[in-house]
Amino acid sequence: MHVLTILDHPNPDSFSAAVARRFMDGASAAGHTVELADLHAEGFDPRWSMDDITAEGGPSPLADIAKEQARIARADAICFVFPLFWWGMPAMTKGWVDRVFTWGWAYDQLEDPEKSLLRPRSGLLLVPAGARSDEMAERGYLEALETAWIKGTFGFSPRRLELLCGATGSARRRQALLEKSFEAGYALASPGA
Ligand SMILES: Cc1cc2nc3c(=O)[nH]c(=O)nc-3n(C[C@H](O)[C@H](O)[C@H](O)COP(=O)(O)O)c2cc1C
Repeated sequence: MHVLTILDHPNPDSFSAAVARRFMDGASAAGHTVELADLHAEGFDPRWSMDDITAEGGPSPLADIAKEQARIARADAICFVFPLFWWGMPAMTKGWVDRVFTWGWAYDQLEDPEKSLLRPRSGLLLVPAGARSDEMAERGYLEALETAWIKGTFGFSPRRLELLCGATGSARRRQALLEKSFEAGYALASPGA
């Protein structure tokens, strides 16, 4: 499979960046080809603007959006890596989704689903979080995120949320989470599985 990893973190030495690298190592070890979209390093502009609104009704997408849609179109599996911020996505990922999942391309009934978001494609959200996993479950955050992201935003099939809880914890804990990230890449499900 061809596996696209979308990383949202400005710091190449962050835990999130390490998670993305380990995930890609796992996917490569399983024989997949890998591609990285490093949104901060590439300077993606997450601000939804009047240009997006105008382009939506027009014949072709904006150049930066066409680039992102082409990356999705050639991927069989997509993994988002972003840190949990205020029980949600950081602004970069949120803006990326707002701008890239355009109505005519992502959700409309299209003549050629092969070129759109509708082609079967597996998806994974690998999300480092400071909180412990028992806090996540007891306070209802896990269920809220599953509802918003897995039922709501991301239409991949199959799709899965893997919260990497305790990401600000001990070196041992972080190492275990990096191994989990490798395993997630190694055991990536095929589209439609
Ligand atoms: C602005 C901000 C908001 C955060 N909000 C949350 C949160 O709501 N829940 C949580 O568990 N951790 C939260 N954290 C902790 C991050 O998820 C944690 O620092 C991150 O996963 C560590 O990885 P990094 O080194 O890649 O940043 C927050 C951190 C920052 C900087």
